[in-house]
Amino acid sequence: MIPQKPRAVVRLASAGTIVLAFTLIQPAFAQAPSMPPPAKGQTAGQYFKNVTTASLKGLTPSDFLGAMGVMTAAVGYDCSNCHPGAGTDAIDWVTDSNPKKVTARKMVDVVAAVNKNFFGGAQVVTCWTCHRGQDAPPTSIALDKLYGEPNEERRDILAPDPNEPAATQILDQYVQAAGGAAKLAAVKSYVATGTSRGYAGMGGTAAFELYAQAPDSRGMWIHFPQFPERGVSAWTYDGKTGWIVQPRAIVPVYELTGNDVIGAKLDALVSFPAGIKTAFTNWRVVQEDTINGREMYVVQGIGQGAGVVATFYFDKQTHLLTRFVRRTPSPVGRISIQQDFDNYKDVDGIKLPFKYSFLWLDGRFTAEITDVKINVPVDAAKFTRPR
Ligand code: HEC
Ligand code: HEC
Repeated sequence: MIPQKPRAVVRLASAGTIVLAFTLIQPAFAQAPSMPPPAKGQTAGQYFKNVTTASLKGLTPSDFLGAMGVMTAAVGYDCSNCHPGAGTDAIDWVTDSNPKKVTARKMVDVVAAVNKNFFGGAQVVTCWTCHRGQDAPPTSIALDKLYGEPNEERRDILAPDPNEPAATQILDQYVQAAGGAAKLAAVKSYVATGTSRGYAGMGGTAAFELYAQAPDSRGMWIHFPQFPERGVSAWTYDGKTGWIVQPRAIVPVYELTGNDVIGAKLDALVSFPAGIKTAFTNWRVVQEDTINGREMYVVQGIGQGAGVVATFYFDKQTHLLTRFVRRTPSPVGRISIQQDFDNYKDVDGIKLPFKYSFLWLDGRFTAEITDVKINVPVDAAKFTRPR
């Protein structure tokens, strides 16, 4: 049931500074200095002081931080392995005093050059291709591994499997299982509330609220009733713009830009069972997989010149959505976010998940939903810039 703990999460928790959107697990002492929100249209090269690689400097600041998350996870580090003092007041993101950071900058160029010169510019090689969570990649095969469990890690994009049903059929079965098209069309909004906990209960129990408004607005809000000093974290999207607030991150409030907006829109569409179909025109059904011993249909939506890959896992027996992995491009490897749905219950004739897990490169949380209200009015402020 419990996936492998990401290598980086415990160290990040102790480092106290989490790059990506979701700062839930942090000790009270770590209060790293934060930066003002980037100005509209600012690139990472303009916003940060010492971002110089050709492939990273043109990213939006939020996509740049996503790329940092990819690099960190790929080599099994935390931020402080390259940035001295990360997680403390003495953090210096700008300095190149650590040789590992200097090496990493060269590696960014290596990855870009290999893909450009040998793979026609397609992103085939990433930091993960070689590193797989280690800073010194192994050089030769270990023979016990050769005769041990086969390595079943899959690539991001898989070949269509002609023996599987059509994508439309699997998506329609899901709509049917979730209540049927007619009933679902009548669902204009819902509010799900409950509690959430970080990995292994770290960070204590938080209050969790999820707001959804058809067709594509979503707001996820988390606060700690017992620790008001931790503030409110929120991820919002109103159909056009999205915001992230994470009180203790390097950039505590920012508008989503670049690929982050695409990801937020996908999350919003996926909050309504009939919405998934509208997210892509380019669908494929790939080889089946299992999750927790249950057989799954695997349907992929591919968009934006294959940059964005969304993989949906539908239970072959119940037809319900069990997992949604979205991957958005970055020059060092796609930024992955996984959402798991479980414990489906009937609310006014509609099936909705009462257990929801969110996993990103630097951590995870699981929310237990205790109450869902359908078609209640939702304040538009739940989908816009949190104040
Ligand atoms: C493997 C080494 C490595 C790790 C780990 C790493 N970084 Fe970086 N970081 C770099 C490199 C290299 C650059 C400069 C990139 C460039 O020049 O394009 C950079 C630049 C930055 C900058 C820009 C600073 C400035 O003003 O110039 C920030 C902010 C940053 N990283 C945040 C993070 C965070 C947060 C983490 C932890 C999740 C992290 N980094 C983990 C290597 C690393
Ligand atoms: C083609 C394979 C390959 C790719 C791709 C690759 N690396 Fe490496 N990297 C290596 C190897 C091999 C070493 C060890 C070199 C040595 O032992 O001297 C290394 C070393 C490093 C080190 C130094 C570790 C130390 O202990 O000093 C860092 C940091 C690093 N890589 C980061 C990255 C990042 C970040 C990326 C993606 C942008 C990346 N690498 C992509 C093969 C690769």
